[in-house]
Amino acid sequence: MKREKIVSVLARTEPARGLTVCGWIRTRRDGKDVSFLEINDGSSLKNLQIVVDPGAVGQDLLRRLTTGASVRAVGDLVPSLGAGQRLELRTREVELLGAADPESYPLQKKRHGFEFLRTIAHLRPRTNTFGAVMRVRGELSFAVHEFFQSRGFVPMHTPIITASDCEGAGEMFTVTSLPPDRLAGPDPFAEDFFGKRAYLTVSGQLNAEAAATALAEVYTFGPTFRAENSNTARHLAEFWMIEPEMAFCDIHDDMDLAEAFMKHLVARVLERCADDLAFLDQWVDKTLLATLRNTLESDFVRLDYTEAVEILKRSGRAFEFPVEWGHDLQSEHERHLTEQHFGRPVILTAYPKEIKSFYMRVNDDGRTVAAMDVLVPRIGEIIGGSQREERYDVLTARMAELGLPLEPYSWYLDLLRFGSVPHAGFGMGFERMVMFATGMTNIRDVIPFPRYPGHAEF
Ligand code: 4AD
Ligand code: MG
Repeated sequence: MKREKIVSVLARTEPARGLTVCGWIRTRRDGKDVSFLEINDGSSLKNLQIVVDPGAVGQDLLRRLTTGASVRAVGDLVPSLGAGQRLELRTREVELLGAADPESYPLQKKRHGFEFLRTIAHLRPRTNTFGAVMRVRGELSFAVHEFFQSRGFVPMHTPIITASDCEGAGEMFTVTSLPPDRLAGPDPFAEDFFGKRAYLTVSGQLNAEAAATALAEVYTFGPTFRAENSNTARHLAEFWMIEPEMAFCDIHDDMDLAEAFMKHLVARVLERCADDLAFLDQWVDKTLLATLRNTLESDFVRLDYTEAVEILKRSGRAFEFPVEWGHDLQSEHERHLTEQHFGRPVILTAYPKEIKSFYMRVNDDGRTVAAMDVLVPRIGEIIGGSQREERYDVLTARMAELGLPLEPYSWYLDLLRFGSVPHAGFGMGFERMVMFATGMTNIRDVIPFPRYPGHAEF
């Protein structure tokens, strides 16, 4: 179907004859001898006003041109007499592609709550807010590939089905082809498809490390799955993660990359999603544009975990969770540091080894590891990464300490046995980045079809 996208029609400055547009009707207003349709085709936040002559299209058709219906219209773009738009489309021909019964179409013209919209996730991209969020998400995804590929990082497709638990946190979904009645017994998975228990991946990192020890600079951008039962506004059971991995690099290079990466993503959405961000700034979070600009302009704070704990203890704030050296920071602590105390993004490093994963490089003090978390306002942790332990003896000792069996990780240990190099990387939760860039406060509202405890609809 030949058509011009509404975004490009709206960008025209001169009248034009014989344009064809398609879209969904957002509203219809009827005047005397004339009707106005606002139509949207998803290419922009703004609608195109279409002027229909009821005499020409006929009352029968006009009655069916209701909110939610899809249409194709042919007409001339002319200066608008009304306020609110420069140009409008005077139509000669309107074709109803698909009607939408006004009695049952759930998206009538009014503001709907995000919770309600979650129950109709298949229709919510038709609202202004979700259309804007999905366009910003799309630009971010493009900007991710642009950032890494322009720097020579090789994109890697790491496996989605895996037998190793990268984070060692035991929050994995099992993948099986066995019927439920064969899942009993001491080792049912020996008979299973892979001959052993397999899972959905929680991270592509270990595979990316293997690639980085050959290609030096690689990244993955894929889906990851965690069966953590944290019913929070920042966790999903299925989310997308970007994981770069670099050989011949230390924790400082890692932090530099993370900061440059964040700034690139923010710069790109500010540049390419101006209308959508202005809308989100007005209706969703009034501090959105200021926060994004501030991220772009400020140097990220770099701070040891130990100093962060001191700052939090001195803050005098009554946190829900106590602050104690050796405990993981909660999102309220992270947000205090980045929002109240520093007012800009913060990169925390040198975490106690007890609260971090087995692969992180042990610092000379023997108590901390070369981990780094990037914390941003409203979200808290958006990136988690580290320099990796490249010393075979240190890593195997640490795995023994943690009670991790060596056998399943033998291929990973090979990377340290043969040509081991200092290397580092990180993981950015893509949905947390979309939250940060849109001002949305619930992670379930920045992914098209969210999966979380009790929910795998659509
Ligand atoms: O800090 P995490 O667990 O780090 C890793 O998985 C490393 N293997 C990454 C690496 O070094 N290559 O997760 C990384 C990021 C977090 O900072 C957070 O933004 C996001 O992934 N994340 C989640 N996002 C949504 N829902 C969840 N359940 C998430 N868990 C982590
Ligand atoms: Mg983390």
